[in-house]
Amino acid sequence: MGGPYRSDALSTQPQLENLIDIEEQYQVATYKKLPVVAERGEGVWLYAANGERYLDLYGGHAVAGTGHCHPHVVKAIREQAAQLLFYSNLVYSSVRARAAEKLISIAPPPLTKAFFCNSGTEANENAMRMARMATGREQIITFTGGFHGRTADAISATFLGKYRELGKPNVPGHLQAEFGNIESVRSIADETVAAIMLEPVQSMAGVRMAEPVFYRELRQLCDERGIVLIYDEVQTGIGRTGEWFFAGSAASDGVVPDVVTLAKALGSGIAVGACLVTEQIASQIKENDLGTTYGGGMLAMAAVNATLEAIEADQMLANVKRVEAYLRERLREVESVVAVHGRGFLLGLEFAEKAAPVHQALLERKIITGTSSNPKVLRLLPPLCLHETEVDLFVSALGHGSHG
Ligand SMILES: Cc1ncc(COP(=O)(O)O)c(C=O)c1O
Repeated sequence: MGGPYRSDALSTQPQLENLIDIEEQYQVATYKKLPVVAERGEGVWLYAANGERYLDLYGGHAVAGTGHCHPHVVKAIREQAAQLLFYSNLVYSSVRARAAEKLISIAPPPLTKAFFCNSGTEANENAMRMARMATGREQIITFTGGFHGRTADAISATFLGKYRELGKPNVPGHLQAEFGNIESVRSIADETVAAIMLEPVQSMAGVRMAEPVFYRELRQLCDERGIVLIYDEVQTGIGRTGEWFFAGSAASDGVVPDVVTLAKALGSGIAVGACLVTEQIASQIKENDLGTTYGGGMLAMAAVNATLEAIEADQMLANVKRVEAYLRERLREVESVVAVHGRGFLLGLEFAEKAAPVHQALLERKIITGTSSNPKVLRLLPPLCLHETEVDLFVSALGHGSHG
């Protein structure tokens, strides 16, 4: 009955509309929110406090890879929380050892070592730093349309829209090339360049992919000029494309970069990020060169282990491929969709007209999707456990919710 830990503020149960007002009043208004008070999640479904249920094709910003509250993940987090919430890298830990070993076992060679941190932007900051340390050079090439996070170095590497401007004054040493155009990279990739970093599928830009040969040419260029190749797989990693990673996949022409960065779906909702690196890069990093208090903490590591186990046990990679094919087939019936971009469960549906009214109409039919910086592209980033029946619901709603 409350006791000494009872919070009166939480126990007064404000009305739902008041909750929205309270958040608006007390939280800095950095996100345009959906009018949904999220209360509970289960698989591909998000339940609102007013009892409504939403089909979540956005996966809480691509985080709910295993679906909301996967029972195996919840159990692992509960058990770990009761055992040891946290200790830093000052000590060894069985749960951390297992997470690192497991991640490396599913990563394509020659990625052989993991560095743990807490978010996507932090993974990218550390990837760039490792590249600078390994090469003794400073410049980083990134691409038009790429998004890499909001901390100082990562936002300076982000040439999408207004982000870089928001990060002013920018960190020096960033160069921009055109995504998919190898000549634009070649012309600036000189002996001052430490790394080339890219989102192999540019999500926020409207789910843009390059031809497989582009990744192959980037790899060759990096090999010729001693440059570190970094894939930002914060969105594409951990099964989203139907493979564990874009790195090493057919869409990448088998190309494996020197560093892969991860976050989002890696912890199923517990904040965690990682860099997977080659032995060659790892050998240049010495004690105390990099670090973060929370990186590799036990709760996050338990979430990582359980996430990877759940994806394997439920055969979610095969599910992504099968359901992607089904979705693409069904979308042929929807006249207003003029193209489908991307791979697996990172898809961009392109409309002849603006996608925002479709996004809104779907929301009214209790389906959450994502927009992108391309006004004509609607993004889908659903949990990897989405099935055909839910695709049917979506396609039918899309038929009703499209233009006109
Ligand atoms: C491709 C990519 N990289 C990096 C980030 C930054 O990740 P975080 O928000 O965890 O810092 C994001 C976030 O949306 C992302 O989509």
